Amino acid sequence: MALQFEQVTYTYRSGNQERRTGLDALDLVLEEGRFIAVLGASGSGKSTLLQHFNGLLLPSAGKIRILDFLLEPGLSGKGMKELRRRVGLVFQFPEQQLFAETVEQDLMYGPLNFGMKEPEAREAARSAARALGLDDELLGRNPFHLSGGQMRKTAIATVLAADPDVLVLDEPAATLDQASREELLSLLADLCQSRGKTVILVTHRLEEVLPFAEDYVLLDQGKAIFHGPPEELLADSGLMEQAGIVTPPAVRFLRDFSERFQVPFPEGPYPADHLARFIEQTVREKA
Ligand SMILES: Nc1ncnc2c1ncn2[C@@H]1O[C@H](COP(=O)(O)OP(=O)(O)OP(=O)(O)O)[C@@H](O)[C@H]1O
Ligand SMILES: [Mg+2]
Repeated sequence: MALQFEQVTYTYRSGNQERRTGLDALDLVLEEGRFIAVLGASGSGKSTLLQHFNGLLLPSAGKIRILDFLLEPGLSGKGMKELRRRVGLVFQFPEQQLFAETVEQDLMYGPLNFGMKEPEAREAARSAARALGLDDELLGRNPFHLSGGQMRKTAIATVLAADPDVLVLDEPAATLDQASREELLSLLADLCQSRGKTVILVTHRLEEVLPFAEDYVLLDQGKAIFHGPPEELLADSGLMEQAGIVTPPAVRFLRDFSERFQVPFPEGPYPADHLARFIEQTVREKA
């Protein structure tokens, strides 16, 4: 099943009736089971879009179909609990939502809240921790005594523990160092590939998702100005400029390279070994 946004507008209203458009008649159809990157300049509507996936925000106009749910303006909170179990939302600084005395208690909170019995919740906590590469030994520790990277993974594991089908994350790798960033992204890619989860990830850094994401959405002023595979996006420098996306040096190199050797821009995703093979093969065939 697809995740569908149909003419979705979201308007923020403040006390003095001032309005700000978060999303503007946005149309978007995403396929399940994929690793999807959402990019766009600051204020383009990325966080607003993400909060619609689990009904935290409801459209001011338009319709959203997610899993078996239909989200429309004015919908009541009924049924939202099930939607929130199946669509896990990770905010930009998720570690701020940690609160318990031990990592295990934090990880069990969601599963218990969504109706699991204690032994089942304990198992869900363990399995989520392992999926994010957190050692069992950490479960008894105080989450506030962990390293930054471990804390971030714990916070993401708290969402994963409820076993959502769709995982939606707002800049999950921001503030992490390069190594933790790569590790986190590759763990998310693995959840998608080996466990069939849909991963929707907002980022400012195109280069961090290039090795993993197969589907790209560009937002500009509350609209999706692009949705498609990376090779289409990367080949279009005008589009990236319009969306305020900095072109990573590796992409500039690939553009020049494919132009020079007159081969089509390679198909993504772009893990380093895939790129090395493409370059090696092209040189061998053309030189
Ligand atoms: N709580 C709010 N009240 C009023 N306007 C808001 C609110 N949150 C966002 N907006 C406005 O909605 C638009 C989209 O904002 P949003 O936060 O979704 O952008 P973003 O792409 O996530 O930006 P960033 O990259 O800075 O996180 C912006 O014009 C913003 O000013
Ligand atoms: Mg944002």
